[in-house]
Amino acid sequence: MAELDDPVRDLSERIAAATRICVLTGAGMSAESGIATFRDALTGLWSRFDPAQLASEEGFRADPQLVWDWYAERREGVRAAQPNAGHLALGDFAKRRPGVLTLVSQNVDDLHQRAGNADTIRLHGDILADRWLEPCRCGRRRDPHEATPGRPPRCPDCGNLVRPGVVWFGEALPEGALEAAERAARAADVMLVVGTSGAVWPAAGLAATARRGGAFVAIVNPHASEIDGAAHVLVPGTAAQVLPRLFG
Ligand code: APR
Repeated sequence: MAELDDPVRDLSERIAAATRICVLTGAGMSAESGIATFRDALTGLWSRFDPAQLASEEGFRADPQLVWDWYAERREGVRAAQPNAGHLALGDFAKRRPGVLTLVSQNVDDLHQRAGNADTIRLHGDILADRWLEPCRCGRRRDPHEATPGRPPRCPDCGNLVRPGVVWFGEALPEGALEAAERAARAADVMLVVGTSGAVWPAAGLAATARRGGAFVAIVNPHASEIDGAAHVLVPGTAAQVLPRLFG
């Protein structure tokens, strides 16, 4: 369809000419790999679970086994998933043109890393990583992997709980991650936002930051998002359909 091709062709030419590209991805990036998004009606996780209950420290302390089991199920899904054509397009691009792409993701899966973007800036942590809920009262500085197995695992000496290494609602982002992401957005010639509703800040603010820095901002999403106003162009399509045409 000509109208769909124009923004894609123009954007692919801008990407080819750019020396600094920042890409921000959200759950829609992994949807075609079979990992549920959070807010898509019906299939979205939050339509089936209460985020305050499952993705918060209070929720975890209130029912550690429920939250641990929910993340264990999601971890299984991540391990079984494969990077899709969108992930692979970004991984191949980073290989062909080292140093041009800064990839920033809200996703806690490891599909970008498995596709070749090892230096992806993870704004919301890593679902496959474990960490202690708090400093151990016993003073031992054990690795969470040395915990006594359980749902969740516990410190054998003080009972401290192991939790997933993700950022929960109300928690600070990983040290330095947001600053690195904002630096890349400000410096970008092209800012591409893929598969995010733009519902969660500060990640959602990166598109406007890039625009203020002079970047050409494009959004790839089959639906409208809350940050469409920051874009110069909206490309209606999915990550696996569009990214290979932009970065191929
Ligand atoms: N390709 C591209 N985009 C897609 C696809 C696809 N195949 N499928 C769905 N989308 C879009 C949806 O239209 C929606 O705009 O992906 C977006 C997913 O939005 P959310 O489910 O809100 O996910 P995300 O924006 O990443 O959520 C941000 O919220 O719950 C917290 O920490 C969690 O990182 C997450 C943050």
